[in-house]
Formats: sequence, structure tokens, C-alpha cells
Amino acid sequence: MNIALPKGRLGEIVYQILEEAGYPCPVIREENRKLVFENQAVGVRYFWVKPSDVAIYVERAAADVGIAGKDILLECQPEVYELLDLGVGKCRMCVAGKRDFRDHRDRTLRVATKFPKTASSYYSAQSRDIDIIKLHGSIELAPLLGLSDVIVDIVETGKTLLENDLEVKETIVPISARLIANKVSYKFKYEKITRLCCRVDEYCRENREADQ
Ligand code: PRP
Repeated sequence: MNIALPKGRLGEIVYQILEEAGYPCPVIREENRKLVFENQAVGVRYFWVKPSDVAIYVERAAADVGIAGKDILLECQPEVYELLDLGVGKCRMCVAGKRDFRDHRDRTLRVATKFPKTASSYYSAQSRDIDIIKLHGSIELAPLLGLSDVIVDIVETGKTLLENDLEVKETIVPISARLIANKVSYKFKYEKITRLCCRVDEYCRENREADQ
């Protein structure tokens, strides 16, 4: 089974879950720059993938399953099955802006974001006229420099907003990591994928209970 993991902090958490759930691959913990790791004994091959690319690898069957943030799934709407909410990588998609910003609905709202589709559908549901400014990072800079009125972005701890004198104006949707599967793989590797999904679900539930 080919598994796409999101490179970075979320990926470390997710790999730990998979390891504990019975899908270890010890070589992944070695310090090197490899991107593919295999453990034939348990039948898994892991790839480290840029988090925003996980859904593409899974949709196009380069990976059978993967773990992607709900933010990416909402934005990219990939043709994949969403099997499980892992309950980790929790954050929320928000509208944020300067503390003193007041919206005037008669003016076009300038929205800076990495998530243009999510922002567009949120505001179109309110029939709000907006101008999307697509950025690739450090979104919080946009309202500070007058590039935009607000941002639509992920808020996790809220520290980045706080330290830049910005605040949440509206919460759009809660976000967390999801286990996704390629539609054809799901059919042909049904037992393997279902077993993995159940084991991960069981491990996540037990851990949540232990935390409470
Ligand atoms: C994300 C997001 C915010 C920040 C929120 O950025 O875009 O900037 O994390 O986290 P916080 O609420 O805990 O402060 P990321 O770290 O992915 O970097 P980026 O600016 O390059 O998008």
C-alpha cells in the first residue's frame, strides 16, 4: 500500500499514529533526505509529500491513501474518498483583519488568501462582492501593508494574528487531518485500506479517551 504523508509537523504526528496503529517503517526516522520509505514486512511504502500535494498524489493513484488537511480538500475538491477524521492537526479557517477594520458592504472587499476557492464560495454564499488576492504564504502581511482588507487563512494557536495586531472576524469552518483514498485503490485494495482505516480510527479514539 502506497501512503502519502504530509511533510512537516503534521506528517510527524500522522506517521507516529500509523506506526502505533501497526504500520511501522523504522527507516523513516533516519536522518536523511530520502522521500520514499518501505517496510515490506507490513506491506507499506510511505512518501513525504508537500502537504498541499497529498490530494493530487492520491487522486491520480500515485498513492493509494494519504493524509491531507480538510483545508486542502475544501480548496481542491479532489476526486477521492474521505475515510476518516483523525482528530489531529486541528485548526480553523477564518476571516481575519486589523482590529479597527470595519466592513462596508457597498465596497468591494479585498481578500488575501492561499485558499481562493474557499474564500470565493464563502463570500458568494453571502452575495458579497470581493476581490481575491492570491498569495502563497505570510498572508498576515497583506492587511498590515494595505494590500488587502482582510485575509482568509488557517488559525491554529492564534499567535501569528496576535503578534501582528490582527484578530479573527469570522470563523468559516473547523479543520483537521483526514485519511483519504484513491477511488480505484479503494475498490481493489478494499480489505487492506479498510483494515488500516479501522486500526487508525481505533488508535485515535483510544488516545482521545486517554486525553480526556
Ligand atoms: C499558517 C497560517 C498562519 C499560521 C497560523 O502558516 O497560514 O500564517 O500558520 O498559525 P498560528 O495560529 O498557530 O499562529 P504556515 O506556518 O503554514 O506558513 P505560511 O505563512 O508560509 O503559509
